[in-house]
Amino acid sequence: MTGDDASDERRVVMVAAYARNRVIGDHGEIPWRIPEDFAHFKRVTIGHTLVMGRATYDSIGRPLPGRTTIVVTRDRDWTAGEYADRVLVAHRLEEALDLAATQQGDTVIAGGTQIYAQAMPLATHQILTEIALEPDGDARFPEIPSAEWGEVDRVPGPGLDWVWWERISAPPTLEVAAVAFVRDGQVLTVRKRGTSRFMLVGGKLDPGETPADAACREAEEEVGLQPRQLEPLGTFLALAANEPGHLVRSVAFLTVPEGEPQVAAEIEEMRWMGLDDRHDDLAPLLEHHVLPLLRQRFPR
Ligand SMILES: NC(=O)c1ccc[n+]([C@@H]2O[C@H](COP(=O)([O-])OP(=O)(O)OC[C@H]3O[C@@H](n4cnc5c(N)ncnc54)[C@H](OP(=O)(O)O)[C@@H]3O)[C@@H](O)[C@H]2O)c1
Repeated sequence: MTGDDASDERRVVMVAAYARNRVIGDHGEIPWRIPEDFAHFKRVTIGHTLVMGRATYDSIGRPLPGRTTIVVTRDRDWTAGEYADRVLVAHRLEEALDLAATQQGDTVIAGGTQIYAQAMPLATHQILTEIALEPDGDARFPEIPSAEWGEVDRVPGPGLDWVWWERISAPPTLEVAAVAFVRDGQVLTVRKRGTSRFMLVGGKLDPGETPADAACREAEEEVGLQPRQLEPLGTFLALAANEPGHLVRSVAFLTVPEGEPQVAAEIEEMRWMGLDDRHDDLAPLLEHHVLPLLRQRFPR
């Protein structure tokens, strides 16, 4: 989710069928067979791009015809075997959504529970089938944050209702500012106390603060540097790792450090890293958004 994603027109549509007890699956299977709902699923997804978790893909076992399939897995070795040339793979949900935005039609979030729960704050529409059953199951549809969503249409079917929802307000969004101090092909990164990943200097905005003000305050507080000139690098929208249902909007700036950084108490470790270095302990904003921009900006 790079750039000004908040203004993207792309529809991100959750499509799911859930029972009265919110069950969507049991031992990897959908616990009902309703041909009219299969036909409905086909009708609303044909020509679009499906994003699904690896477990849901496994339960289907093949890409669905007439749709692009993107499977999300953390397993870097995973492939769709004999269907590998027809199934795209992403290793983070945001990566899957970025990839989907380059493919045909809407982005359809096709489940299961893990993917629905994470994608809810990024979704713009939902097409849900309410099944009038209460089956046993081990996978459930997440609660819909009612203040953020409005029902816009409801069509009764056989033992079910098809329901269309639209987002009416943005999900809660944490505002963050970050500053990339770059010198001699290296960027300053810090690991905060009690955390495991290196990130840019920065943190949450205080009430009433602009991102630039927050970046300057954080730079002073964390590493004792006072940036003179901040150049905007970009605004990035991502899922909040520690607060389900929330987004994080990060505004990143670039500057040249004047003086040597001094580590404050809240910082456990500081590291200057080469822009082309590879580390597996970087925060997503740094790894997936800021470093690629800095590499373009300062080619070797
Ligand atoms: N009724 C319906 O409309 C409907 C629709 C779809 C699915 N379902 C049901 O839902 C159940 C499956 O749901 P589920 O929650 O168990 O599994 P799931 O959401 O389909 O897939 C979970 C897997 O997705 C990958 N994953 C999740 N979050 C990720 C992230 N942020 N980054 C990278 N990979 C990520 C992981 O794969 P790895 O383990 O490979 O890393 C994880 O194990 C099944 O019973 C299925 O039949 C029902």
